[in-house]
Amino acid sequence: MQHDSTSTRPSTDTIGIVQISDLHLRDAPGARSFVSHEPEDGLAAVLADAADQVEDAALVVATGDLADLGEAGAYERLGGILAALPTPVYCLAGNHDRQDPLQAFLPRPTVHLEPAVQVGNWLMLFLDANAHGREAEADGTYRDRDDRVHAAAQPGLTPAEERRARAILTATRAEHVFLWLHQPPLPETAPDAQGDSELALLVRDFPKIRAIGAGHLHGDLSGEFEGRPVYVCPSSFMSLNPRERTLEGPGYRTYRLHPDGRVDTEVRTVPGPMTDALRTTPMPAFLTDLMTGRVTGKELSALSDADFEARYGERRPMARS
Ligand SMILES: [Fe+2]
Ligand SMILES: [Fe+2]
Repeated sequence: MQHDSTSTRPSTDTIGIVQISDLHLRDAPGARSFVSHEPEDGLAAVLADAADQVEDAALVVATGDLADLGEAGAYERLGGILAALPTPVYCLAGNHDRQDPLQAFLPRPTVHLEPAVQVGNWLMLFLDANAHGREAEADGTYRDRDDRVHAAAQPGLTPAEERRARAILTATRAEHVFLWLHQPPLPETAPDAQGDSELALLVRDFPKIRAIGAGHLHGDLSGEFEGRPVYVCPSSFMSLNPRERTLEGPGYRTYRLHPDGRVDTEVRTVPGPMTDALRTTPMPAFLTDLMTGRVTGKELSALSDADFEARYGERRPMARS
């Protein structure tokens, strides 16, 4: 992994960023139960709606769950879609992604994986927080576990990723750091990341980390971790409205980073037929159970397809792992 320290904007400007997340692209079209559009249609709607902001932005950031099943073909197509944008794109892996095909098929000259990049006096640091979905091999490399989707529901850092992050944070001359990862370290959804976790210690040790951007929860959420604001981006495929407990359409988040370390951010849901359809679709019972804590992702994953159908009266709509 290269540390790219190219500075692309003068430090007096504010820096525009467009964040997309949880694209969940599939290799082949197919019915997705309660969602009637394809993940790629959601992404296209987001990129069309955000076109002016993408044009003006220093970066587009894609914070994981890029391919729903981690298929090579999905990364290959996504690489082409993102390479056509007029702005460099920085991507990182989510718990649905598979690192080997992701690294082999996604990158393009303007589509990057997990480097850090300095823009003005801000450093963007992209962390892979999927440690709980990985297994260390004898040679020290990490292999994706088959149950990574649920195993890595909370953020975690492998020792190698933590070392990489600390080295970059120690070396950077940027005044401010924006930390990007997939699973947000919010107390309600990531209890294991609180206290003295590697991630908490990392953020505590580097006060120049001003804010954290994440995805994974498919909704317009925000909170705090170690005194730093955490912003969650909706999904470009299918989002949730956490306050109304309803389904929500494709969305994205935009940011303005100020030279003094302040961050302004907004969420946008893309209007149109996909959003209209999702808003009038009843929330599947399993999602309500997940959002209210009546069931965990791990417990859902442990159900056989037959048990899932018996419990919820419908077929399992999502990949098990
Ligand atoms: Fe996701
Ligand atoms: Fe995720």
